[in-house]
Amino acid sequence: MNITDIPLEITTTKSSKINQVDFENLSFGMHNSDHMMYCDYADGKWQTPKIVPYGPMEFEPSAKVFHYGQAVFEGMKAFKDDEGRVWLFRPDQNFERINTSSKRLAIPEFPKDIFFTSLKKLLEIDQNWIKKGEGNSLYIRPFVIATENGVSASESSQYRFMIITCPSQAYYNKPIKVIFAQEFSRAADGGVGYAKAAGNYAAQFYPTQLAKAKGLDQIIWTDASSHEYLEEAGTMNIFFRIGDKLLTAPTNDRILDGVTRKSIIQLAKDHNIDITVDKVSVKEIVNAAKNGELKEIFGTGTAATVVRIEGFEHDGVYHELPNLESSYGSFFKTTLQDIQYNRAEDKHGWTMQAF
Ligand code: COI
Repeated sequence: MNITDIPLEITTTKSSKINQVDFENLSFGMHNSDHMMYCDYADGKWQTPKIVPYGPMEFEPSAKVFHYGQAVFEGMKAFKDDEGRVWLFRPDQNFERINTSSKRLAIPEFPKDIFFTSLKKLLEIDQNWIKKGEGNSLYIRPFVIATENGVSASESSQYRFMIITCPSQAYYNKPIKVIFAQEFSRAADGGVGYAKAAGNYAAQFYPTQLAKAKGLDQIIWTDASSHEYLEEAGTMNIFFRIGDKLLTAPTNDRILDGVTRKSIIQLAKDHNIDITVDKVSVKEIVNAAKNGELKEIFGTGTAATVVRIEGFEHDGVYHELPNLESSYGSFFKTTLQDIQYNRAEDKHGWTMQAF
């Protein structure tokens, strides 16, 4: 189907909230743009998508999402270039991943044409919420929830697919401190770790609270069976640099196949940076920290982009990392943002113009 053939019902707001927002001082996810998209699944098919003013929605307390967490989500960003054109970064990857996540959670897959038609329209309607300038973007949160009423523990027959957006700047405005997980686990073999299932994030909140009580910001999860291998952080994938060699864990059914992660692996190859995608052992990293060969650790994600990790705790010992003047992390952040803001050649065809 040609994307212009998609029926889309649009109701615009009569009172924009844009003047209530201080775009110079945004706290991540705390403001929503004026509109949102939703599309219901009923009678075995996705219904007509709607764009409506952002606002509360009514669900019955027995809706399955509240009891069984049958919900998945995505994170994407739209960037405005100096000429006012709006770009999405690898949106096909997010679209495919939400359906991969949905499949694992027994949620029906969402049609590609409805996704892109309604997303582009939503961005066009809320285009004033996308600010130009380094670090500014509109964070896009597609998600799906199970809306059938009834607390029997079985998959829903009704769903709501939604897209909300939030103007955003940096997710972390300073480097972070982490702890390597030794007690709790994020994901297990055969589980849902690779999916962006809502519950994956909820399950991290309590261990993260304990880490925060120790003055640390986030956990780097290790494999659930031995806690010997480093996998991913709470909101990001993770890279380590020993000497000039970059390391990151391979994806598997416990690790999120991050779009920023895979883009950085490609950029490393493009720039002849020695990168190994293989199991990263705690022992190797702790030893490298002790003998001074561990140069940097950084996290990568859509919300976070690239964030420096200034130190980590393991076995009760805190290891501080050097703050390099020319780090791989800052090189990748700049290189990636140059592509995202349409300032550099996009030789892999990663960006898509929204309008
Ligand atoms: C993203 O980076 O878009 C994510 O979904 C991580 C989220 C927990 C903020």
